[in-house]
Amino acid sequence: MSSSIPHFLRLADVPPQALEALIQRAIVLKRAPEPTHRPLTGQTLAMVFAKSSTRTRVSFEAAMAQLGGHAIFLSPRDTQLGRGEPVEDTARVLSSMCNAIMVRNDSQAQQEAMAAVSSVPVINALSEQCHPCQLLADIQTIVEHRGSVRGVTVAWVGDGNNVCHSWLEAARVFDFQLRVATPEGFEPDAAWLDVAGDCAQLVRAPAQAVEGAQVVVTDVWASMGQEAEQEARTAAFAGYCVDNALMRRAAADAIFLHCLPAHRGEEVTADVIDGPQSRVWQEAENRLHAQKALLEALLAPPGTTGAVTLDG
Ligand code: CP
Ligand code: NVA
Repeated sequence: MSSSIPHFLRLADVPPQALEALIQRAIVLKRAPEPTHRPLTGQTLAMVFAKSSTRTRVSFEAAMAQLGGHAIFLSPRDTQLGRGEPVEDTARVLSSMCNAIMVRNDSQAQQEAMAAVSSVPVINALSEQCHPCQLLADIQTIVEHRGSVRGVTVAWVGDGNNVCHSWLEAARVFDFQLRVATPEGFEPDAAWLDVAGDCAQLVRAPAQAVEGAQVVVTDVWASMGQEAEQEARTAAFAGYCVDNALMRRAAADAIFLHCLPAHRGEEVTADVIDGPQSRVWQEAENRLHAQKALLEALLAPPGTTGAVTLDG
């Protein structure tokens, strides 16, 4: 592995100042789109999706097209990955033909193994461990709403899952307080809690997490790959639904976020996700803008106007 190749397998792969700059760049790209800004002309992104996706696939593909490049959708069903070709061999080949590799699968370790042999950047588009691209869009949404995320209190209610892990990482990087409320046995992994350090607090009761918070976030109770646990999880998460009674405990100007897809009537009620405090559609759209900022930073030629440099 060439250590000079920038990968984006977790937020910490990019220096904090560069992450802040990416958020600002995403806001600029959204406010003032320039159709002639096509710094990725001739470049190709290989998108390996071992799990389903709507937002991530469309936002990466649209981002590449808008920046002048091209994206190729690859699923295990249609590639040799599904017939057992090692991920490292796949990464070697893809990196000899494409300018970056995006991966969504259930193994952070496999993504790291791909990055280790890839001659181009590897981007984590969700693993069982984390979802860093989602957090770029989520932080952008908070910054658009409040001007800054620094010092804000965010309440995570529900499963201590991959998205929660990236929220923990974001709390440390962007300097906000994250209160995480999960049922017993569904806490985030200790390693990710350690990353957040004193920026995170683990509580049991959703009401305790949400009290006075400026942002309330949740996610599905059964993530992709956990379908067989759906029934047991539905029982375990009773009392962890974000409803209007819970939202009333948050700050008066609090917003509600959810990475989507959502299950109305499970982790969130319809009147919250479809109500005035919800910013989920803005959050979903921001996947496009945040990833344009990321792709530009990773792939645009040096000196590209506006592009963020990732070396801090
Ligand atoms: N939030 C998110 O990653 O959505 P998709 O699974 O639709 O890509
Ligand atoms: N935690 C969810 C996020 C989906 C975007 C999952 O992994 O399925």
